[in-house]
Amino acid sequence: MAQELFRDYVHDGETVGVTQVRAGYVSEFSPKLIEWAGLTSQSVIVDAPCGTGDMSSAIEAQGIGRMFYLLDVNKTQLQAAQTKMPENKTTLIQADASDIGRAIPAGVDGILTLNAFDIYVPGKPSYLSGCSELLNKDGRLVFDVATFAIGEESGRFMQAHDQELTRMAAEQGAETRLPKHPDQAQLDTYAEMVGRHGLTLLNTVTVQTRVPVETYNNDTRLIPGRLRPRIVGPTITTDQQRVDLFVSSSKRAAEQTAVSTLTNTRVFFIARKGKN
Ligand SMILES: C[S@@+](CC[C@H](N)C(=O)[O-])C[C@H]1O[C@@H](n2cnc3c(N)ncnc32)[C@H](O)[C@@H]1O
Repeated sequence: MAQELFRDYVHDGETVGVTQVRAGYVSEFSPKLIEWAGLTSQSVIVDAPCGTGDMSSAIEAQGIGRMFYLLDVNKTQLQAAQTKMPENKTTLIQADASDIGRAIPAGVDGILTLNAFDIYVPGKPSYLSGCSELLNKDGRLVFDVATFAIGEESGRFMQAHDQELTRMAAEQGAETRLPKHPDQAQLDTYAEMVGRHGLTLLNTVTVQTRVPVETYNNDTRLIPGRLRPRIVGPTITTDQQRVDLFVSSSKRAAEQTAVSTLTNTRVFFIARKGKN
């Protein structure tokens, strides 16, 4: 199963870690997620995909949650998450997010899907319907999508970046499959999709951050053990080589476009079970 899911991605390196960026994300958004998802000390909470479990751990540390279901397709991530959560409150589930409706028992108050919906949830309709089935009346789903493709400068930079990456990889005989960066039209389709699968979109919250290209490059370097867009060729076989290509193409894109600062747009979608 995993092989098929990761067809368009390369997942090498068993190392799991949390970058500075992700640590900042957890501290900034954990109180907000508690509010948006309406979580209390009595809530049953699903974190899917949970990754290394840092968001659930931060939420639990605030006295929130009676029971946590942590789902991820990757066993290494689940093992890392396990070390951060109290055993008596936590159930770990190794599954594809698209199977969430079958993998977790109903009676859930809040589902969090963070840094994942766009790329890591392959069967979005099945996932959304599954979430609706799991949720209690008034239960909520919050997911987010982050993109650098909104905003003229940032969009131009990402386009040049992907072109350079493809070109440089091709020079080394490598095959490249780059995901499409979500633009506003894509985000609109997600908002609409929610309503077609037993959920009502209550609100979206958009957070924009200015990121220097240099920081973007450093963050690329610092994320170990994550899925990366597929770039595979006779001389490109390791994660480090892919990261180096990313960074080189960022530098070239910065030169070509004269863009030095990018806009990261993150949209949180807040939905509740049921139709209006
Ligand atoms: C970028 S991480 C996000 C993890 C966590 N929510 C966070 O914000 O740190 C993406 C996670 O999705 C997991 N993943 C990838 N494809 C998946 C799938 N089809 N079903 C479930 N988990 C998946 C990966 O193993 C990884 O832990």
